[in-house]
Amino acid sequence: MTRKIIIDTDPGQDDAVAILLALASPELDVLGITAVAGNVPLPLTQKNARIVCELAGKPEVKVFAGCDAPLERPLVTAEYVHGKTGLDGPELPDPTMPLQEQHAVDFIIDTLRAEEPGTVTLCPLGPLTNIATAFQRAPDIVDRVAQIVLMGGAYFEVGNVTPAAEFNIYVDPQAADIVFKSGCDIVVMPLDVTHKALVTKPRNDAFRALGTKVGVAVAEMTDFFERFDREKYGSEGAPLHDPCVTAYLLRPELFSGRRVNVEVETQSELTMGMTVADWWGVTDRAPNALFIGDLDADGFFTLLTERLARL
Ligand code: RIB
Ligand code: CA
Repeated sequence: MTRKIIIDTDPGQDDAVAILLALASPELDVLGITAVAGNVPLPLTQKNARIVCELAGKPEVKVFAGCDAPLERPLVTAEYVHGKTGLDGPELPDPTMPLQEQHAVDFIIDTLRAEEPGTVTLCPLGPLTNIATAFQRAPDIVDRVAQIVLMGGAYFEVGNVTPAAEFNIYVDPQAADIVFKSGCDIVVMPLDVTHKALVTKPRNDAFRALGTKVGVAVAEMTDFFERFDREKYGSEGAPLHDPCVTAYLLRPELFSGRRVNVEVETQSELTMGMTVADWWGVTDRAPNALFIGDLDADGFFTLLTERLARL
């Protein structure tokens, strides 16, 4: 029984690895990939999503362009991390596969209405603009979502784009607020866990040692985009954020966390986009998310490398 998913993404090298892991895994049925503005502007994220599908040898995957700016705030991008193309590192050919005509938000709405309720999982890897827009435009789809497994937020790890906020939530806090208040079954992969998924040199060498187009490209992507975090955190490797979402779908037992209340700061500029997780249960706010705090990093990289070898 395969699991139907929609990947909502702003590639970004770590998004690319998350997409490759999904496309390499027969347990997952990728109904579509919806691009959103985030790491780089939408024209690049939708192009990069297609580049990654072709790298995986899956040009038949449907890729849609979605929202090109957050709900209310101006777009903030991260070329300083991901490079000007958003996929710097490997030399990859421009895509030849088509971009779907339909807007990503309409695809999300139509798909959730067409599929059996409770059978489609949403996997946001970037700002939550597309998801929130779909929920606002078609409130009837919220109850039809099986689960949302997203990369975003931070609590003990604090922010990576401001002292208080993680990038995906910071770019569109209003969208995140809508999603976290939606009532959906949400699993959050915050920096608290992704900062424990460090691509050390042996782990990156294992990607390269696959000797395949995909393995070498992933090694080159992670080498490039991780240089910024290695410098910043002085760690032995840099975090591989988005693939934690895909790995959770495949082997949830690799991860551990706590069901807590998570709310998003949308008023104060100082803490804008902060995910306030009531980890110690000091409020009476109802738990609304499984907030992941830890993973078996060796198990994660073994799974990832083994699956990438299949492409
Ligand atoms: O903060 C990390 C997140 O922001 C990742 O999803 C990365 O791709 C960027 O979108
Ligand atoms: Ca991302």
